[in-house]
Amino acid sequence: MATIREVAESAGVSYATVSHVINNTRLVSPETRERVLAAMDALNYRPNALARSLRQGKTNTLGLVLPDSANPFFAEISRSIEDEAFKRGYSVFLCNTERDTQRELFYVDVLSNRQVDGIIFVAAGDQADSLDFLLHRNMPVVMIDRNLSNVEVDAVLTDNQLGGYLATRHLLELGHTQIACIAGPSSITPSAERIIGYRRALEEAGISYDETLVLRGDYHAQSGMDITNSILSMHPRPTAIFALNDLMALGALRAAAEAGCSVPEDLAVVGYDDLEIAHFTNPPLTTIAQPKKAIGVQAINLLVGRMSQKNRPPSRVILPPELIVRRSTQPHASEVEVP
Ligand code: RIB
Repeated sequence: MATIREVAESAGVSYATVSHVINNTRLVSPETRERVLAAMDALNYRPNALARSLRQGKTNTLGLVLPDSANPFFAEISRSIEDEAFKRGYSVFLCNTERDTQRELFYVDVLSNRQVDGIIFVAAGDQADSLDFLLHRNMPVVMIDRNLSNVEVDAVLTDNQLGGYLATRHLLELGHTQIACIAGPSSITPSAERIIGYRRALEEAGISYDETLVLRGDYHAQSGMDITNSILSMHPRPTAIFALNDLMALGALRAAAEAGCSVPEDLAVVGYDDLEIAHFTNPPLTTIAQPKKAIGVQAINLLVGRMSQKNRPPSRVILPPELIVRRSTQPHASEVEVP
C-alpha cells in the first residue's frame, strides 16, 4: 500500500502538505490540492484510518448493543440511531446479544478494544456487569429502553407505566372488563412497568387485579399465539387481550383467526411498540406507539454530549408513549362505568 511519503514525492510537495490535504487541517492552493489528489489516485493511496484515529484520539465510530436484532422494534430503533449518527459523522457497529449476558460482556469488550467513541446500550437482562465494565473503562455510554436502577448512566427511556395504563383504559372505555395481559420477560423493566399501568387502570375502574389473567410471554410471536390459545379456553373467556409488544399481539391475532374468533367483534387485541407492520395486520392493530425516532435522536445527543463532558452528572430522558387506535378494538356491551 502506498505511503504518504510516496504520494508527496510523486506530487512534488512536502509530507506535511499531503497530510494537510488528507485532514483538511490547513488551506492548500487548488493546484497543489489537485496534484496531491492525482498522485493519491495514481498510487491508489488509502489513508490509514487506524493511524489517523491514534493521532486524533477518536475513531468516529459508535457501538450499538441490542438484545434481539430480529425484533422489528430494535430494527426500527437502530435505524433511528444510525440515521442520527450518520448526520454527526459517526459509523455504527451493531452487536446482537440474543439476550445473553455473557455474549453482551463479550461484545462490550470487543467494542472497547476497537476504541469506539461511545456506546448505546440495551440491556440483555437485569445484570449491570457490562455497564460497570464500560464505566470502569471511562467509555461514554447511553442506556436506552430498559432501565437498570443500580447504575449511574445517561438513559433514554419511555414511560412504560403510562403506556400500560393508556392501553388498558382504552379497553375499559370500550366496555371490556375481562382483560387478559400477555406479559414480556420478567427480567426486564418495560414489561413490569407496563403491568403496573395495566393494574392501575383496572383498579381505577373498580376492577380487581386478577393475576391469573396475566400470562408470561417472551416477546416473540409464537408465545403470543400459544398464550392466546390458553386464554380462549378460559371460563369466563376474556373479551380483550393486552399484549406487551406487537409481536406477541400478532401471535394473538393468528390464534384468534385459527380458532374462528373474530377480532374485534369476539376479542379485542391491543399491542405495544407500533411496529410498521401494525398498519398491515388484519385487522390493523391498535397499539401503544413508542417514540422510536425521538429515542434515537435523544440517545445520540446524550452520547455526543457525554463524549465532550465526561464528568457531568448523568441525565435521564423519559419520553411519552401514545395510544394508536386502529381496528383490532371496538366497543363491547358492559355495565362498567369508567370514571
Ligand atoms: O418488542 C420488544 C420489547 O422489548 C419492546 O416493547 C421494547 O420496549 C423492549 O423492551
